[in-house]
Amino acid sequence: MQIRLDKFLADAGVGTRSEVKSIIRRKGVTINGECVVKPETKLNPDTDEVAVNGSSVVKRGNVTYLLHKPAGYVCATEDKRFPTVMELVPQARDLFPVGRLDKDTEGLLLITNDGEMAHRMLSPRSHVDKTYLAVLDRPAEDAFAALFAGGVDIGDDTPTLPAKLEICETDHPALAYLPEEYRTGLRAGQAVLLTIHEGRYHQVKRMFHAVGREVIYLKRLSFGPLVLPLSLKKGEAVPCDAENIKNA
Ligand code: URA
Repeated sequence: MQIRLDKFLADAGVGTRSEVKSIIRRKGVTINGECVVKPETKLNPDTDEVAVNGSSVVKRGNVTYLLHKPAGYVCATEDKRFPTVMELVPQARDLFPVGRLDKDTEGLLLITNDGEMAHRMLSPRSHVDKTYLAVLDRPAEDAFAALFAGGVDIGDDTPTLPAKLEICETDHPALAYLPEEYRTGLRAGQAVLLTIHEGRYHQVKRMFHAVGREVIYLKRLSFGPLVLPLSLKKGEAVPCDAENIKNA
């Protein structure tokens, strides 16, 4: 597969797209020993040898980070108003978030350059499980579990797919993920675990709204086979083992 020289260099972490264009124009780049001055020059990253100022550049393989997303960051590669999750991972140039969490949602988010994996994790046909810990404005009722298992009308063309609701007692181990301010004074049934297999816009908030509750805190604890490590602090990212994701 042929790709543009400037994209190859940016993806390899040499610089931003505009920085690498300027290096190319200043005659700093060779392909197979020949100086190239056009950023749009095509090359085969598997067979052509590219060097910047005499040092050879290797194609970056797939990288994936598991990020503990804090509230306040948006899941986008760029945003004019808010900080983006890309600011929280190293060498983020060719990476992108796998799906979205709302700005005020915390929890497990993958950031990758692996388009095939992202597609597999997000495809509606894959039905990848996502488990959320939510704190509600008032305790959940036992009847919600059956309602969610049957699918609820959240105003879309079709009801939600069957989802699994677990209503948490105040000693449930998952509550260890809650920030202190939500743990103190929490009433039995106010915290819930909801596992869904789709990714509709504001889905968890809209499902609870449909049964008369508002979500006041939301955190994603798992995505497919991946679980948010309890020890991973908000804003921290760790490289993620591709093998784990393959089994999703
Ligand atoms: N559902 C929501 O309502 N918000 C999220 O961020 C994720 C799922």
